Amino acid sequence: MGKRIGVLLSGRGSNFEALAESMSAGRIPDAEIAVVISHRGGAPGIERARARGIDARVIPSRGLERDAYDRQVVAVMREKNVDLVCLAGYMRLLSPYFVKEYHGCIVNIHPSLLPAFPGLEAQRQALEHGVKFTGCTVHFVDETLDAGPILLQAAVPVRDDDTVETLSERILIEEHRIYSEAVRIVLEGRYRIEGRRVIILNAAEAAKKHV
Ligand code: GAR
Repeated sequence: MGKRIGVLLSGRGSNFEALAESMSAGRIPDAEIAVVISHRGGAPGIERARARGIDARVIPSRGLERDAYDRQVVAVMREKNVDLVCLAGYMRLLSPYFVKEYHGCIVNIHPSLLPAFPGLEAQRQALEHGVKFTGCTVHFVDETLDAGPILLQAAVPVRDDDTVETLSERILIEEHRIYSEAVRIVLEGRYRIEGRRVIILNAAEAAKKHV
């Protein structure tokens, strides 16, 4: 049976869409997006998912403790038999409960070369700091903010005339590329974790790992 992905998003949903495209184009084989969930009713990503015929649900978070909210989300992920949770512009911290339930099976995309510029507005932080290179990171999610083991990164040079918008646009192209690549690696089990390091394996090494 193919692998089932659950996506959590808060807004536009371009990373979700890039993953969905990669699945239909065969760049992420034997996988489908089983459900998309947002805490925001107006999230354009929800409409984008519905337009693709994907089960997309809004679970409002207002007035709920983080743990109580995450219990609802995890219940849907379980109902939909989700194997891997992909955070795609999800602007909420996950509870320890969520992280424990899906330990090692949650990934996130962040628009900086972590550990630089965690948190909000990473592209603005990079510009204001004056770095010459920034980029994006796909990492496993643990209880820490943007600090789980790193799967893949891509560097993007900062130009003297960059604005937050132009820089974000160039980073986004790399986000879409490495997120699909990372999801494929995780679903194929082509990695090994050594402390904080994620070692990417080739197909032969991965086959040995499963013996
Ligand atoms: C992306 O740039 C993503 O890396 C960032 O939000 C944007 C969502 O865009 N995520 C974070 O900052 C998480 N800390 P999208 O909704 O079009 O995918």
